[in-house]
Amino acid sequence: MDKKKLLFSFSLTAVGIAAAALFESERERRSLIVRHYALRSAKIKRARRIVYLSDFHERRLGDIEERLQMETKRLKPDYIFLGGDMVTAKHGASIEATLALTERLVKLAPVFYGEGNHEARLDRDRGRYGDLFDELQAGLESQGVRYLSDETVLLGEDLALSGLHITENYYKRAPHDEMEVDYLRAHLGEANAERFQLLFAHSPAFFDAYARWGADLSLSGHWHGGTIRLPGNIGLMTPQAEFFRRPASGLFSRGRHAMLLSPGIGTHSINLRFLNLPELMVLDLKEGV
Ligand SMILES: [Fe+2]
Repeated sequence: MDKKKLLFSFSLTAVGIAAAALFESERERRSLIVRHYALRSAKIKRARRIVYLSDFHERRLGDIEERLQMETKRLKPDYIFLGGDMVTAKHGASIEATLALTERLVKLAPVFYGEGNHEARLDRDRGRYGDLFDELQAGLESQGVRYLSDETVLLGEDLALSGLHITENYYKRAPHDEMEVDYLRAHLGEANAERFQLLFAHSPAFFDAYARWGADLSLSGHWHGGTIRLPGNIGLMTPQAEFFRRPASGLFSRGRHAMLLSPGIGTHSINLRFLNLPELMVLDLKEGV
């Protein structure tokens, strides 16, 4: 084969692979899978089921509101947790899809909503986003959804759920500021040592600080599963253009402290997913060690 023909067939193959990858990415962005996880603790007195999703980013693809409602109804959770970045704070920001989803979910179980960097941005940059943050708050409140930013609620006789507000300097791409335990103490006070302490902390980058503060389980998202998932649960790239973060999603622990990390439901800016399906996480909390 001469050089020209070789180059032509090489280019054709490259274009074919790129087209197949884009096709697969579009399929994944319209998908939803349900995955089950379980966690035991002596602090848990009564078994509970939590349905957890994060980084919805006002997704409208693939009848997602209806599918999330249907799956959640089937799963019969005690609580529904939303891990933040339900909205997207960028040009043309909206809150309609999020409020339409919460309106459906709140009919199925109590809904608790942790703050992401996009909600925090709506609140901070009112010159750009107007009253959108207040409208979101008012909408959630009227539906009965509990938004937790530097607040703690007690659930039953054995659970405490806190929602941490994380300031923008911690969201910048690595090397970002290191988070100290004192940051959590200043924002939330001391962790509840008697109860199983759950913590909405949108960025998973500071797991050590959350664990040292006393979180038994941190609920995070933000990395979107690393956009493209590599073998070994490694995420190729986060929305902050951080590379090769691991683990990119799932339930994992360090000592007695666990983290449930969502790969997200939607996308923004880099609208790609590859080997990285949107996931509705089901966590069964069980009594015992
Ligand atoms: Fe985020």
